[in-house]
Amino acid sequence: MAGRTDIEYTYTLIDRIFRHCFGETGDFSGAKYDGDFSLTLEEGQLRKHEYIVQNLNIRRGSRVLDMGCGWGSFLGHIREIGAVGVGVTLSSGQQKACVKNGLDVRLMDCRTITPETFGLFDAVTCIGAFEAFCSKEESEAGRQDEIYQNFFQTVADLLPPGGRFYMQTMVFGRKMIDLTTVDINAERNSDAHICALMEKQFPGHWLPAGVDQIVAAARPRFCLLDKSSGRLDYIETLKQWSRKFRSFGLKKYVFYLSLIPEYIFSRQLRERVDILAEDANQPCFEREILDHFRLVFEKS
Ligand SMILES: C[S@@+](CC[C@H](N)C(=O)[O-])C[C@H]1O[C@@H](n2cnc3c(N)ncnc32)[C@H](O)[C@@H]1O
Repeated sequence: MAGRTDIEYTYTLIDRIFRHCFGETGDFSGAKYDGDFSLTLEEGQLRKHEYIVQNLNIRRGSRVLDMGCGWGSFLGHIREIGAVGVGVTLSSGQQKACVKNGLDVRLMDCRTITPETFGLFDAVTCIGAFEAFCSKEESEAGRQDEIYQNFFQTVADLLPPGGRFYMQTMVFGRKMIDLTTVDINAERNSDAHICALMEKQFPGHWLPAGVDQIVAAARPRFCLLDKSSGRLDYIETLKQWSRKFRSFGLKKYVFYLSLIPEYIFSRQLRERVDILAEDANQPCFEREILDHFRLVFEKS
């Protein structure tokens, strides 16, 4: 799995940049446009939140656990409707930002939560964190199915019978390339190069072979209620992120300028920002090297 160091690199290092560009409690996962790309990023993210609320029967007073809550976007949304949310993240920057914004968020590995930790929940979500639960090394050691099955057991233990779980995750797409060809020194923008950039951006992360692997891992404890591909919506999300990241704003550009000394002296920050700016994710989805799925489960 991606450990604390990996997660601090992927998220905490860009904490201030992220909040500057996307707001204090911005989403860092694919939005839901349902193919209507006239929607703004915020409208697409709101549509996703509303879809989850509706499918998980979340209402005033519901207790909801958000595993891998990022900067608290979904927790902020359900707070508006009077639900009681608890979030967990492995990024100290995200946790501090969430607490500052009045959200109940703990710094811990969500896979270690038991009913003794916070009690039971009416609903559980995991929006874009599943990718961090199994590393490449664990996958190569043949442990991926076992890791996913254990995760679904953890979630099942936190829900009553009939309780619902929503997750969305990237998976390898139908045009995934031979892994032995992945190479950071390959020709720029080639499949081999963009896959290597993805690996660098998300150390410790690895993806399910496809959606069927996830559904099979969940099957003993959950039945699948809804499944949809969010690949095209993810491409639109990435386009809108990129526009927001680059668009001119005086305050934002003054902030970027203030980062220059750190950018020069911190190799890690330089590497992270350069990979972010190169944006390997969009071509990966466009070329179907990656796919993306939204899944609604009900505890059997
Ligand atoms: C791509 S972000 C998604 C954030 C948020 N759900 C959203 O939609 O904006 C992935 C999140 O998963 C968290 N994460 C990854 N592995 C985790 C783990 N084992 N326990 C808790 N959080 C984890 C990261 O810290 C990060 O907050």
